[in-house]
Amino acid sequence: MSDTTAEMTPANALLTLGEKQLELPLLVGSEGERAIDIQSLRARTGCITFDPGYGNTGSCESAITFIDGEQGILRYRGIPIEQFENGASFTEVALLLLCGELPSQAEYDLFSADLTRFANLDEGMKHQFEGFPRSAPPMAILSAMINSLSCFHPELHALDDAEQVRQAAARLISKVRTIAAYAFRHSRGLPYIYPDQNLRYVPNLLHMMFSQPYQQYVCPQLVREALNLILILHADHEQNCSTSTVRLVGSSGANLFTSCAAGVCALWGPLHGGANVEVLDMLERIHQGHISPEEYVRLAKNKDSKVRLMGFGHRVYKNFDPRARMLGAIAERLLPQLAGNDPLLEIARRLEEIALSDSYFIERKLYPNVDFYSGVLLRAIGIPTNMFTVVFAIGRLPGWIAHWWEQNRTPGSRIGRPRQIYTGAQERDYRPIDQRIESKRMTS
Ligand code: SDX
Repeated sequence: MSDTTAEMTPANALLTLGEKQLELPLLVGSEGERAIDIQSLRARTGCITFDPGYGNTGSCESAITFIDGEQGILRYRGIPIEQFENGASFTEVALLLLCGELPSQAEYDLFSADLTRFANLDEGMKHQFEGFPRSAPPMAILSAMINSLSCFHPELHALDDAEQVRQAAARLISKVRTIAAYAFRHSRGLPYIYPDQNLRYVPNLLHMMFSQPYQQYVCPQLVREALNLILILHADHEQNCSTSTVRLVGSSGANLFTSCAAGVCALWGPLHGGANVEVLDMLERIHQGHISPEEYVRLAKNKDSKVRLMGFGHRVYKNFDPRARMLGAIAERLLPQLAGNDPLLEIARRLEEIALSDSYFIERKLYPNVDFYSGVLLRAIGIPTNMFTVVFAIGRLPGWIAHWWEQNRTPGSRIGRPRQIYTGAQERDYRPIDQRIESKRMTS
């Protein structure tokens, strides 16, 4: 054992800068990933590093999720996501991410009871939905209402211990369903349906979305299983754009609700969580005969077209996204029972087949990601397209909370504040307006 430990002792990196040579410590993670610790770099050399998009930059140490992009591995607190297909519930996976261990029956029952107890919104919040136009994007409402939620729970602004965080997490994870459902109902001009205390997490969400005052929606078991797994597969993904946003906002001392509201905004982007909507739009355009799959792939390879094969490619996965593989298999298995033979699934399969044998995608290691199949599945469940990214946010919420809390309780955590390389005008003087000459306005 000591030999193995000795081998794992981090060595140093040697940096030569002009005449200067400096040793920088290496950090080694529990899965053998290595990082050069550059915290002393600027003080010792006057230089910063430059890494737009942070593709080579670690922002933190984290024990929540491990991804090996080359091997297509994704584990939550060490458990491979493939193992959650055997009957795990989104609620217990949320607790695993939040607390670090799978819950005991008593812990699970307590959290489930809290999720049931906290499902209602303060009546004062309901009227806020009315202030949005019916056409308002549900992601805009979701972000606004999560922020609004913090106004009704000032006691949860300062979270100092794990129990307070568990309580806040239960409120957020429970109420995010109600907010999402009410946003959907508002967009359709339908009356709000209150949560049903006798329903579990997924059936209660769909009940609030699809029941009518005169007729209760009954969640088919297949739909419940599919949506439960979709939420699990979206629950965390280490330092993705929205989770990094939650951490950055939280690093300023902003409360948990506000930090998660910021995460919703980041997730909304079409290159991130909004891609599942873009994928469906892409499949619909092909299905309506506007363009063939072959032509679409040709466009996606042509930089000038500004078209991308949505649902393909990933900053970290340079192999299959394991979630895409699982969602593709679930779609294959469930769609015939849920929605007959969906032509969009066939088109998705055809696009995948074309792209995976095309050198453009092979050379760039572009494979289907989590968004490629999720939209087809959500559509089969009856979720409207403009709610796809909202469902992604519901799934990702436990991951955001876990990261916010991990950062807040890490000793020495500092406010996030990246540096830059300035390329603007050098020092010059102010000139009174009558002494200025016409120049190009608003240069880029
Ligand atoms: C998610 O980070 C996460 O973990 C995110 C996520 C999570 O769970 O939180 O996994 C969820 O956001 C999944 C990604 C969903 N987005 C999409 O499906 C949108 C389509 N994909 C791309 O826009 C792109 O692949 C990204 C945004 C996902 C990744 O972008 P990168 O890492 O910045 O890669 P890049 O844009 O630098 O592309 C590298 C090359 C470029 O070509 P070259 O300049 O080298 O010639 O690959 C090309 C790109 O043009 N490329 C694509 C492409 N994705 C990359 N070309 C066509 N179609 C694509 N989809």
